[in-house]
Amino acid sequence: MCGIVGFAGTTEAAPILLDGLERLEYRGYDSAGVAVLSEERGLQMKKSKGRLKVLRELTDDGRSMTGHVGIGHTRWATHGEPNDVNSHPHLSQNGLVAVVHNGIIENYLEIKEYLIAKGICFRSETDTEVVAQLLEYYYSNSGDIMSAVYKMLDRIEGAYALGILCVDYPDRFIAARKDAPLLLGYGKDCSFIASDVTAILKHTREVSYMADGEVAVVSSAGIRVFDAMGREIEKERHTVDWDVSAAEKGGYAHFMYKEILEQPEAVRKTMHPRLKDGRVVLDDLKMTAEQIRGFRRLFIVACGSSYHVGVVGKYNLEHLLRVPVEVVLASEFRYADPLVDENCLVIVISQSGETLDSMMALRLAKKLGARVLSIVNVVGSSIARESDDVLYTWAGPEIAVATTKAYSTQMVLLNMLGLYMAELRGTVAPEDYAAVVGGLEALPAQMERVLENTGTIQYLASRYFNHNSVFFIGRNLDYALGLEGSLKLKEISYIHSEAYASGELKHGTISLIEPGTLVIALGTYTPLFDKAMSNVIEVKARGADIVALTTESRRADMEKTAGNVLTVPDAHRLLQPSLGIVPLQLFAYFVALQRGCDIDKPRNLAKSVTVE
Ligand code: F6R
Repeated sequence: MCGIVGFAGTTEAAPILLDGLERLEYRGYDSAGVAVLSEERGLQMKKSKGRLKVLRELTDDGRSMTGHVGIGHTRWATHGEPNDVNSHPHLSQNGLVAVVHNGIIENYLEIKEYLIAKGICFRSETDTEVVAQLLEYYYSNSGDIMSAVYKMLDRIEGAYALGILCVDYPDRFIAARKDAPLLLGYGKDCSFIASDVTAILKHTREVSYMADGEVAVVSSAGIRVFDAMGREIEKERHTVDWDVSAAEKGGYAHFMYKEILEQPEAVRKTMHPRLKDGRVVLDDLKMTAEQIRGFRRLFIVACGSSYHVGVVGKYNLEHLLRVPVEVVLASEFRYADPLVDENCLVIVISQSGETLDSMMALRLAKKLGARVLSIVNVVGSSIARESDDVLYTWAGPEIAVATTKAYSTQMVLLNMLGLYMAELRGTVAPEDYAAVVGGLEALPAQMERVLENTGTIQYLASRYFNHNSVFFIGRNLDYALGLEGSLKLKEISYIHSEAYASGELKHGTISLIEPGTLVIALGTYTPLFDKAMSNVIEVKARGADIVALTTESRRADMEKTAGNVLTVPDAHRLLQPSLGIVPLQLFAYFVALQRGCDIDKPRNLAKSVTVE
């Protein structure tokens, strides 16, 4: 995902820009570039496809460029393939301005045609180049850079964070923002812009956040900010209380990203001690075989993502055990006068083991005579302590508010429990049992494969991060998967998002689909793949933009209808959501990143909900 850094000071700019870009590397990128300005040497620019190492070599670690003012960029290709020419900065035809840009200029084709008709030659395939060319065109006509900038901003549509150098102003650069994050940094005898604070934390903790429509003029003497009407305004300054080492913790900018990447290992740790010679062995259960055979009904009770694991569990446990399984939100269960008695097993799922509603549901279930088994991550937590049986997930501490690795380990463990009980109850054929165990054993490596190929997900996130409303549709386990994918997206990116069972579309929801609505169509549950395809065709006919998720074996079929297709490896069908969730977590993460959200601590949310 693109990253911007800009510097104006009294020391050489290029080494500082390269260092800043390195701190933005975690966002992902395919090319990088820097441009610096000096009175003696004018505008110097270097850019290249590939890692920052290449740019360092090209510039002798920045020493080959001189100038105290500059802009730098790491690019994630959206318009035009990753190559040297499409990398930022982009230069105008006569070399008067250079531009770095995050976001998408939606009307770039129309502007490009307009400028080509005026005799302007384009070098790249990017949307960004129109910004540089249009700005030079207006500047050449008026001779006034600020009015040219405002005129250019009036003409472009879409999302942007911009850094702009103009050869006639070697002591400053200009920044502008709309719908893409950009902050200003105040240093000693120097000033910065950056798409996120990690890029400049080494130099300053004093920052302002640019608002939509604002334009800043950045120089070593300070930063002047103007509103959309060109009136100078005072910006509120904030002190960032992160220290550099916290920001760099584990080399990741966000715990959520780190925890997404930790999932294969967390799943391995949760599974391995309980898989012996092709059998699920749950030594940690006190429940007897006789008790397991005696349950007439199961309940799964939980909140939020843990509840979504329960929805997967309902499908899989009913399939494996041939017994009714009800999945109920803990906050509903506790006031619903549930039909629970001593013939029931109530499974409570909770990462923290402290969620109040889940805790109260547990107590009610026990009071009604049921046996309670909990699936918990935190050893010794209240829910673990009060349950008759506990199965611990070995996900390790989960810091990000939005759960990822706890969700994945809960799901694996619930499936293992289903398999274990099914064997004792005699409801699963040996070959089916062996197939699910084989599927479980394969999961961690398959998750690793999904995590190795995040490029398309990042690309799609940068293409759709500005949508206001998203629908996740799917059937059966894909519906359960959609519930979690949708929650991940909405809770960290603040985009309105809903998950629907695809079969329900015609009963109301389809009226919300209009040209440009983003629909995430889930087609990983292969027994119902054809039905998933029919729903894709339906929403496509109404103009929806579609991102489809399916299995590798179904890619070609899905591509016949959906333009954007993500795939995960083919797994045992009961286990497919364990893989499907990974790209959806990553999509939510990259969208939130692009929108500049507080990913690890989304607004109004807490990691452990200990009040009703
Ligand atoms: C969402 C999320 C929450 C929790 C919910 C239950 O990403 O993390 O929806 O799943 O608050 O929390 P636990 O599992 O601790 O009971």
